[in-house]
Amino acid sequence: MKLLVTGGAGYIGSVVTRMLLDAGHQVVVLDDLRTGYPEAVAPEATFVQASIHDAAEVLTPEAGFDGVVHLAALIAAGESMVKPELYWANNTVGSLALLDAARIAGVPRFVFSSTAAVYGNPTSLPIAETAHTLPTNTYGATKLAVDFALASMATAHGLAAVSLRYFNVAGAYLRPGIALGERHEPETHLIPIALQVAAGRREKLQLFGDDYPTLDGTCVRDYIHIEDLARAHLLALETARPGEHRVFNLGNGNGFTNLQVVEAVREVTGHPVPTETAPRRSGDPAELVASSDRARTELGWTPAKPGLPEIVSDAWTFYQARLQDGQA
Ligand SMILES: NC(=O)c1ccc[n+]([C@@H]2O[C@H](COP(=O)([O-])OP(=O)(O)OC[C@H]3O[C@@H](n4cnc5c(N)ncnc54)[C@H](O)[C@@H]3O)[C@@H](O)[C@H]2O)c1
Repeated sequence: MKLLVTGGAGYIGSVVTRMLLDAGHQVVVLDDLRTGYPEAVAPEATFVQASIHDAAEVLTPEAGFDGVVHLAALIAAGESMVKPELYWANNTVGSLALLDAARIAGVPRFVFSSTAAVYGNPTSLPIAETAHTLPTNTYGATKLAVDFALASMATAHGLAAVSLRYFNVAGAYLRPGIALGERHEPETHLIPIALQVAAGRREKLQLFGDDYPTLDGTCVRDYIHIEDLARAHLLALETARPGEHRVFNLGNGNGFTNLQVVEAVREVTGHPVPTETAPRRSGDPAELVASSDRARTELGWTPAKPGLPEIVSDAWTFYQARLQDGQA
């Protein structure tokens, strides 16, 4: 297939691009580099530095694209609460521009990076795709709006649309000569922050709340290895059905408390990770754990690397390589 990957210079998009190329697909990466890194784009891909708002320039009827994998977005839930206009403009308005370009160009498939944040505070666990969607932050709302747009495009125009709702993505893609991992600036995700503390690049790790009704009082999240997550995109492209909007949660189905993650980081790195308890952050649910039954049965997807030690260990290998290169 000839595929347009938006956000292909980012953490997840760079790995999805790599795996699509390895599976024999032709990939054009569209990324404006607002948070991405050009060196993360596989050299075999064609790279276009542009915004999704201008996607129509690349996604022309003549270009003959078979599908779009849309990962480009702003991703910080906290920032989305103080700068909502940025998130609506980029994540929703930008996605609508991309969708419209895809419609005019007659692109048959569209796979979208949605998020567990669309569910807000779950009323039952593990969270299935049938759960109510009631985001507690603007980021989740901007993504849910695109899910709705995809559903109507599928119904009206026969688009084969898939929304993949990721839970917490972590780990790295490591092959001889290739290391693709998480490099968000500023970093807001727990595992890379804990690794920065382990490496002495940060003094301590803040744990937001220690009085949640969980095993040790800290929040529970579901971590999925980047390779497992990226593989689901290939399956989604293969199994997308014209006129349908299919939604899949992607997580391991296993939750770990923040303290369990910190303990795993201590064990993998062999370094201390000092922590400090901070007040709860508003909008943080106590527990987010996915039911991935639908992805398993309908996509034939099974996580190959579900263990926390392996996820942390790959992230650590990636981070150490960056430290050695003087990039971190
Ligand atoms: N990282 C996670 O744990 C996680 C969890 C759930 C969902 N997601 C979703 O996965 C996707 C990728 O996340 P990531 O962690 O790789 O983030 P990232 O910041 O590393 O990558 C996002 C990429 O999109 C690009 N981009 C942003 N706005 C753009 C625009 N208007 N035009 C062109 N390019 C643009 C950025 O330059 C960057 O390269 C996002 O859609 C995010 O919402 C991520």
